[in-house]
Amino acid sequence: MSVLLLGGTGTTGRPLSRLLPEARVASRQPGPGRVRFDWADPATFRPALAGVRAVYLVPPPADLEPMRLAAPFFEEATAAGVRRVVLLGALSAFDAAPGVDELFRAVREMPESAVLRPSGFMQNLLGEHPLAAGLRERGELVGATGDGKVGWIDAEDIAAVAARLLTGPAPAGEHLLTGPGALSYGEVAELITGLTGRPVRHRPVSVAEQAAMFGATGLPPAFAGRLAEIYGAIADGAEDLVTGAVEEITGRPPRSLREFVRAHLA
Ligand SMILES: NC(=O)c1ccc[n+]([C@@H]2O[C@H](COP(=O)([O-])OP(=O)(O)OC[C@H]3O[C@@H](n4cnc5c(N)ncnc54)[C@H](OP(=O)(O)O)[C@@H]3O)[C@@H](O)[C@H]2O)c1
Repeated sequence: MSVLLLGGTGTTGRPLSRLLPEARVASRQPGPGRVRFDWADPATFRPALAGVRAVYLVPPPADLEPMRLAAPFFEEATAAGVRRVVLLGALSAFDAAPGVDELFRAVREMPESAVLRPSGFMQNLLGEHPLAAGLRERGELVGATGDGKVGWIDAEDIAAVAARLLTGPAPAGEHLLTGPGALSYGEVAELITGLTGRPVRHRPVSVAEQAAMFGATGLPPAFAGRLAEIYGAIADGAEDLVTGAVEEITGRPPRSLREFVRAHLA
């Protein structure tokens, strides 16, 4: 089955493209093995979808009304003969945002579909993510998450699940994906301190402060506010959850945060 990977150069899409080397990678910057795709340019949809039967769908970024851009994509996908869509959602998705719920519905209406609902990415501790910047620059994990726990998951495990669901027997339903344990920001700070020898602490902030921090990274204010509310919900236990879904789907257990930090000590 020929597969198109939206977000194929991103946090989950990149490892997925390594697992599915025949898949077509969508990117705003086309290149070898890549096809040009831009949510903001619907003219890119049809060429990207030609001959495709399954799509890994990373939604339009930072958008509480994703169907404005995604509805024409679903039309083109159906016309092109796409049968299967695997959507990257989120554990405590923006369910309350009607626009996001609409996207979930559109995915479920495809002949074959699955929705991935992962918890917080371990990769948030790396690279450009605001959490990583605070960690590197000030030894701080800043978050409005209180003592609430997160079932941290490695994006490589999400990719492994997506690869199975895109290419295996017809998938169905929603999959709550977590790593093997749930840890609060304070516990993550302790773990990193123990493994690096460098003092790291959790610096709690309010939901409003968190929203301002996200806004300062360039996220639209409404989206930054909604994202910060999710962090507040984590403080109330919304993501204190561990599931066996990764192992059930891939046949191997997910990576722990301890293993992940060890692998990325440098
Ligand atoms: N971070 C978390 O803890 C977490 C937890 C649960 C769920 N999620 C979900 O994961 C998704 C985002 O993950 P991420 O932040 O790691 O981002 P990401 O997947 O790394 O996103 C960047 C990708 O999006 C593509 N992209 C950006 N703008 C685009 C546009 N206008 N048109 C087409 N493609 C575009 C980029 O492609 P090019 O630059 O190559 O064009 C790149 O492949 C979100 O949907 C979020 O809800 C995240």
